[in-house]
Amino acid sequence: MPARIDPFYAIAISRAAHDLKTQGRSVIHMEFGQPSTGAPAAAIAAAHQVLDADPMGYWESPKLKEAIARRYDMLYGVKVSPDQLTLTCGASPALVMALASSFSPGDRIAMARPGYVAYRNTVKALHMEAVELACGHAERFQITAAQLAALEPAPAGVIIASPANPTGTIISPDEMEALAKVCRERGITIISDEIYHGLSYGEPARSMLEFEPKALVVNSFSKYFSMAGWRLGWLLCPPEHIDRTQAYMGALFLTPPSLAQHAALAAMDSLDELEGHVAVYRRNRELLLAALPALGLDEIAPPDGAFYIYADVGHLTNDSMGFCKELLQDTGVATAPGIDFDPVEGHHFIRMSFAVSTPEVEEAIARLVPWFAARPRLNA
Ligand SMILES: Cc1ncc(COP(=O)(O)O)c(C=O)c1O
Repeated sequence: MPARIDPFYAIAISRAAHDLKTQGRSVIHMEFGQPSTGAPAAAIAAAHQVLDADPMGYWESPKLKEAIARRYDMLYGVKVSPDQLTLTCGASPALVMALASSFSPGDRIAMARPGYVAYRNTVKALHMEAVELACGHAERFQITAAQLAALEPAPAGVIIASPANPTGTIISPDEMEALAKVCRERGITIISDEIYHGLSYGEPARSMLEFEPKALVVNSFSKYFSMAGWRLGWLLCPPEHIDRTQAYMGALFLTPPSLAQHAALAAMDSLDELEGHVAVYRRNRELLLAALPALGLDEIAPPDGAFYIYADVGHLTNDSMGFCKELLQDTGVATAPGIDFDPVEGHHFIRMSFAVSTPEVEEAIARLVPWFAARPRLNA
């Protein structure tokens, strides 16, 4: 039987937001986690330059793989060979390949709930079993080593994400170490989604590779590098897994777009521009955090990284999708319903992305404050 998976509900909100815009309404897009900035200038210039000169055949850029491998040394002090990297069309196919090449149908894969919508759905689509572990404030919305140690029977794999979507929380180095230890002891394969690395507002996130060299790491140019629509990412796997990954890549996707690879290489040298985006996100985050009391939202996950606020709106609704629709209709501010990230508790959460401009965040706050204040409290 084909696996049944839920839709990504934020897409419906986004469509409605675009419809409103066509009707002439002013819309602020905070529903998707995508930078509004576009690729770095040097990346666009590089793309223009190669467009006339390169035949754009099937291709994996050796220089790009070398540059990514150097980045692991620079950021984490971890030596990896470019051969361990497979370039993919974003983190999404990298996740598919990591799962498909490591596990069998029926295998149990643990993940935090709330978590990125595609984890649960991709695991299900591949006929594996998603074991969602409830993670609340006490766990900083992140899976813990203690939870994994207590899980019976041990799952075949675990997906971790630090910083996480939808919460932005980062796993501490001690907890990463403890997670790696439990996984080694129990034979659990780790998939570490590091797509939000580079976007942190306190201590930088650590790579799981620093603690477990056998972890499979998923990453992408979509977030820090601001190139979501270029569809480029990578899967980093241990040396003994390379042949299997390459076979899966050849069968499922061949290669990612050549143009994106040329542009990404230039983006990797555009760190000043990219750090400028991080400074904007930092400011946006501060503005939103400062506005939360005025919105009456005190139950939030601490956004250590990424560009999200995941807020409990349980005093106002038990239907996050209906809430996001009304919010959009009344104010033009598009947000994502918590049910995308947590089918159990998500009906009273919303996620706001602050990967927009600072004037947009200011305008969103100005619209949200009176709307939230006028909203009747449940059971009041
Ligand atoms: C945690 C996480 N992983 C993976 C992805 C997929 O990213 P990509 O655009 O690289 O496919 C996203 C996209 O929002 C994400 O939030």
